[in-house]
Amino acid sequence: MQYHFSERMLTIQPSAVREIFKLTNAPDMISFSAGNPSPDTFPIDALRQVTENLISDKAAFSKMLQYGISEGYNPMIDVTAKRMKEKFNMMGEDDKLIITSGGQQGIDLFCKAVVDAGDAVIVEAPSFVGSLNTFRTYGAQLIPVPMQPDGMDLDLLEKALKENPRVRFIYCIATFQNPSGYTTSLEKRKAMLELARKYDVLILEDGPYNELRFSGEHVPTIKSLDTEGRVIFSGSYSKVISPGVRLGFLIAGNELMQKIVIGKQATDVHTNLFMQAIASEFLSKYDLDAHIAKACALYKHKAELMLKCIDAEMPKEIVFSRPEGGLFLWGVLPEGKDSAELFNMGVEKKVAVVPGRAFMVDDRAPCNGFRLNYSMPTDEQIVNGISILAGCVKEFLKK
Ligand SMILES: Cc1ncc(COP(=O)(O)O)c(C=O)c1O
Repeated sequence: MQYHFSERMLTIQPSAVREIFKLTNAPDMISFSAGNPSPDTFPIDALRQVTENLISDKAAFSKMLQYGISEGYNPMIDVTAKRMKEKFNMMGEDDKLIITSGGQQGIDLFCKAVVDAGDAVIVEAPSFVGSLNTFRTYGAQLIPVPMQPDGMDLDLLEKALKENPRVRFIYCIATFQNPSGYTTSLEKRKAMLELARKYDVLILEDGPYNELRFSGEHVPTIKSLDTEGRVIFSGSYSKVISPGVRLGFLIAGNELMQKIVIGKQATDVHTNLFMQAIASEFLSKYDLDAHIAKACALYKHKAELMLKCIDAEMPKEIVFSRPEGGLFLWGVLPEGKDSAELFNMGVEKKVAVVPGRAFMVDDRAPCNGFRLNYSMPTDEQIVNGISILAGCVKEFLKK
């Protein structure tokens, strides 16, 4: 059978990260390449309890087996909007919040509403490949702007805006970025919003890691600084409850949200109602802050252990990010070195990182950055894995 594929799918390659997972799945591999939250943080007992209560009430259970509305299950919308307003000052007068099937769907639905083929999207370099591929499926041209430890290079951001009149929005992961762990400073957040105003573009702020802060001070979201509906915020329960529940949310101005909701009707009618009921019960009966505090304590321990091992064993020419939250560290090799080579050496010695090119718009060009995940490996794997990796790095730098 000869299939005809749409043009939009022809531009998409399988995610390099997924390909890397195939290579790094060997049972004796120490993997720093995953992107998952630790299963030790999943609130298993609480979720089991609310699920048992829900299914043992026949009338309540029956309601969850019916169709629901596309915006989401009302108690889930209310509990999420209240939290985002009280904790992050994010629900402006005109803002609406809908429940999505993960943050990924929120990003997809937003694009469906605003991107035409041939439009441009400015993205951080490096960035989250899941989103880059979503932008590509809508025919968007991706314009990378290099990330610095305190956010995008603003001069290059302005240059990109000036040179590309078809930019629809700037995509940024302002807090504990995937893959770099960098957090955009408040000054840069304000400046980005100013630039977005000047060039009349939107900002899509993706914040799945926002609540995973384990040290330092909270930085206001860009959405909370916005007064005119220019910023759209995509949130997720994947890292604070579990990714398997596939629950996220999107906050946008009312007019835009109405279009997004029509798009959602056409995509999946609504997000799984049963799961929304379980999660909203969990969120109203249990203390999410206390639950997140426990997860953050675990990630703080793991990040500090990894950095301690790095400080003790890695050559000083390699610069590592020092994140105050999230799941990732970013290592930067000296200029001109390609981390894909380090990746191959690591795999041979049974330790896996993700080479930085996997997060770039052009994933065939050499890149000197690489990502390390600390949420999944055990303490022992962190100690042994960093030691092996440091050996590879030393050998690699001699080349
Ligand atoms: C930056 C970023 N955005 C969005 C997502 C998608 O998250 P979700 O599981 O909520 O779909 C991820 C997942 O890892 C991510 O890292």
